Amino acid sequence: MRKKTIRDIDWQGKRALVRVDFNVPMDEQGHITDDARIRAALPTIQYLLDHGAAVILMSHLGRPKGPDPRFSLRPVAEHLQQLVDAPVHFVEEPVGPKAEEAAARLQPGEILVLENTRFDPREKKNDPEMARALAKLGDVFVMDAFGSAHRAHASTAGVAQYLPAVAGFLMEKELKYLGQALAHPEHPFVAILGGAKVSDKIGVIRNLLQKVDAILIGGGMANTFLAGEGYSMGKSLVEKEAIPTAQQLMEEGADIIHLPVDLVVAQEFAPDAESKVVSVEEVPDDWMALDIGPATIAHFSNRLAGAKTVVWNGPMGVFEFPAFARGTVAIAEILASLSDAITIVGGGDSAAAVRQAGLEDKMTHVSTGGGAALEFLEGKELPGVAVLDDAE
Ligand code: 3PG
Repeated sequence: MRKKTIRDIDWQGKRALVRVDFNVPMDEQGHITDDARIRAALPTIQYLLDHGAAVILMSHLGRPKGPDPRFSLRPVAEHLQQLVDAPVHFVEEPVGPKAEEAAARLQPGEILVLENTRFDPREKKNDPEMARALAKLGDVFVMDAFGSAHRAHASTAGVAQYLPAVAGFLMEKELKYLGQALAHPEHPFVAILGGAKVSDKIGVIRNLLQKVDAILIGGGMANTFLAGEGYSMGKSLVEKEAIPTAQQLMEEGADIIHLPVDLVVAQEFAPDAESKVVSVEEVPDDWMALDIGPATIAHFSNRLAGAKTVVWNGPMGVFEFPAFARGTVAIAEILASLSDAITIVGGGDSAAAVRQAGLEDKMTHVSTGGGAALEFLEGKELPGVAVLDDAE
């Protein structure tokens, strides 16, 4: 179902209440270490400003238990000010009299950033009172926070009950690429799945098994599959309780699922740990798998040759440690070289890895959603999308 977008509204003199996902990583000094999510919201913000709107931005940051200065959006507002040529104001509450006053004072062409929506405990309960209080601040609700669209919270879903609700450009773009890949993929369609846990990805694997020509599995979750195939995984992370599910998925997807054939193993979980490459039959008892090995990279590369659609979610190893990042970087490089394919990187760690490797521009689309991209790939309807007005 097509949704209304910001193009469908006459913005002149209106206050746009925009949910963005400014949940960005920060270091201990409160410096933003990756502003991709802020930059991804700029086309929507700029369009609204250019079309005569006053722009009110709301977002969560982190998982605070209540008001907590460590999770303030003030540094994010200051960062935004460096990226846009418009005044950026900040108000130290997400809802309430101060927020109302600041929103009322805001002029067309100006931006107001509200304090972290999760400072109000009603946010995560999708409390109608908070949703109504947020709705008072604007004339039209714009949902551009794809990364938070899997949350049914007051600022992502509830507020849409009280205002016209339309998608921003980032939301539109995410739904276009992820939606097309699932609904009308060009074949061969290959999915690459990694990350630590099988239990997080069962729904995704089940949904993708119906649609793809191959699923390549790496990262910690591959250990559980390999254990299910009878290999001894030494000290590797294995989700014992997920082994039966992994075995069942292997039965359902016998010709589709590909597992690593070799691994980089280490004696301990440390950046400078001693390491070596072994075949999956030879993982020593007191070693652990921290990356896929070169034969696996070659095998996955063969499966990816000629692919027309590729979706990737989750790193192939402990890519935070350079010694165990080779598999993840190799996958990023292979995808970057597939000039003929639609390549979609589904958020979170794999998106961070692609950015670290400087290959973001070589992908068709790098999602800003972590959990949201996963739920979308599972085939679930996202609450923050469901609430948007349907296009005529
Ligand atoms: C994310 O980073 O995936 C989103 O911002 C959602 O954050 P949450 O998992 O804390 O709801």
